Amino acid sequence: MTEKHGRWLAPGPLVIASHNAGKVREIQALLDNYGIECVSAATLGLAEPDETEATFIGNARLKSLAAARATGMVALSDDSGLCVDALGGEPGIYSARWAGETKNFKTAMAEVHKRLAASVSVTPSSVGGINTAHFTCALSLAWPDGHTEDFEGKVFGRIVEARGNNGFGYDAIFLPDGHEQTFGEMEASAKHSMSHRAKAFRQLVTAVLIRGAL
Ligand code: IMP
Repeated sequence: MTEKHGRWLAPGPLVIASHNAGKVREIQALLDNYGIECVSAATLGLAEPDETEATFIGNARLKSLAAARATGMVALSDDSGLCVDALGGEPGIYSARWAGETKNFKTAMAEVHKRLAASVSVTPSSVGGINTAHFTCALSLAWPDGHTEDFEGKVFGRIVEARGNNGFGYDAIFLPDGHEQTFGEMEASAKHSMSHRAKAFRQLVTAVLIRGAL
């Protein structure tokens, strides 16, 4: 039987199992607060595994395990996405794929707006133009022996017209509840104080660092 949240992270470099520069930047900033040294999958020339699972956690685990096994080091992966209620949770686990081969998020954000416009008159969650949505982030830490520790964080808000050039992916069209700036308008530090990634990260820190060996 595998342990559940039963392993501590020992000091030493961590592989960030992601080829997404925006994510790597955010994870590095979050890890910096704890003095954790990291090296990205791209720097190590690791292959990007196909995301064949049906859940954020499933895909995160697949990526962290592939990197841990390939390097013999502890690896941290992130699988995340934007879930729009009126679109039945889409783009969800397909958030990266909506941007196509060229990773064009202007096109992906336009697609969200187009589909919302088509659904607006029939979907309760979008009545009044509320367009509720959330970002989910699943983090998975994997050890070379196949053990994983997995965490999930969410931030709720709504879809608006694109505003701001900060961040990455769908940040410009996401307005978090209780705020006046989209993730695309906020300073990185403001996003890091409330994001889905920061919430998942706080759980990770509590489980494997605070009571651990660092
Ligand atoms: P994946 O986890 O590699 O499948 O990609 C997740 C995709 O979701 C990213 O490429 C982004 O498009 C989107 N996404 C995840 N987190 C964020 C975020 O914090 N801001 C904006 N978009 C995000």
